[in-house]
Amino acid sequence: MIGTDLPIVAAPMAGGPSTVALASAVTDAGGFAFLPAGYLTAAALESLLADARAAGRPFGVNLFVPQPGALPAEQYDGYRAELADEAAALGVDLPVEPQHDDDAWPAKVDLLVSEPAPFVSLTFGLPPGSDIARLQVAGSRVLATVTTPDEARAAEEAGVDGLVVQGSAAGGHSGAFDPRRPIPPTPTAEVVRAVRAVTALPVVAGGGVDGPDAVRALLDAGAAAVAVGTLLLRATEAGTTPTHRAALTDPAFAETVLTHAFTGRPARALRNGFVDRHGASAPYGYPELHHLTRDLRRAAAAAGDPHRLHLWAGTGWRAAQERPAGEIVRGLV
Ligand SMILES: Cc1cc2nc3c(=O)[nH]c(=O)nc-3n(C[C@H](O)[C@H](O)[C@H](O)COP(=O)(O)O)c2cc1C
Repeated sequence: MIGTDLPIVAAPMAGGPSTVALASAVTDAGGFAFLPAGYLTAAALESLLADARAAGRPFGVNLFVPQPGALPAEQYDGYRAELADEAAALGVDLPVEPQHDDDAWPAKVDLLVSEPAPFVSLTFGLPPGSDIARLQVAGSRVLATVTTPDEARAAEEAGVDGLVVQGSAAGGHSGAFDPRRPIPPTPTAEVVRAVRAVTALPVVAGGGVDGPDAVRALLDAGAAAVAVGTLLLRATEAGTTPTHRAALTDPAFAETVLTHAFTGRPARALRNGFVDRHGASAPYGYPELHHLTRDLRRAAAAAGDPHRLHLWAGTGWRAAQERPAGEIVRGLV
């Protein structure tokens, strides 16, 4: 589907880890890379696209689909009060007003229509089919992230060209269309088989890849290519913060869990103090919780405090190595 030498895709990792340098290194090793547009302003995406153009390699771009609904104010206020001590510990003011936004979706689609990427991948659900069609007419192939056969069917009906099948072992946010849906610990290869049973769309599969055997298992299950995120978090070219990097090798972190405590949407992270203190009480409300905790998390990263930071990591985190990304990618095949 992607026409690269190796069936390896660098997953988009918003918030810092994915850089143009990381994407370039993966491309040069024979894989394909997605750049994350999530969280960026339209101006920041414009500058990322300029950097990508300057790098002279074909990259995919990943977008967050806007979320319906808004978190009720009393739930926001309650969680804000619960986090007061966390914020005080870092000298951070938590925003008073809940912010529900569309992650600049219309402007980002416009930018990608005027400067098409070969692939645009979507996560957090499906946009109107007309937006998918606009990206396709501009020359992009559009992939939707799905986590179940039902989501795959809906994506096919919406007109996408392919799927990113994400297993629950994946690091970072789950792309589950409904963030409140319980996410069972189904092995990614099993999800791939179940999706392939309901659609012939080509599949990029990811979630929990920790080495060549996991790559082989996903290809055997019918994936055209395999996405890796966590394995690249410690890559030389990654923009992962030093606090996050250190936590990935700290034996004090013993497991990953799915939590919506940081952003209001389930994401897999190393279990830390913040997850233990707020995992059970946090409301579901993305992007309001993302905006609520953003400065707190930034301050935690800057202060070297791994217990107030979202330490996104998939189940294969112990296999992540500090090496050039090209070596990591070649080591997978
Ligand atoms: C730090 C981090 C950030 C991520 N950010 C995004 C993102 O912006 N968009 C997206 O579609 N997926 C994102 N993901 C999920 C990846 O696309 C992918 O599903 C996952 O990394 C694959 O599982 P693995 O981490 O076990 O390799 C992120 C994952 C991580 C670890």
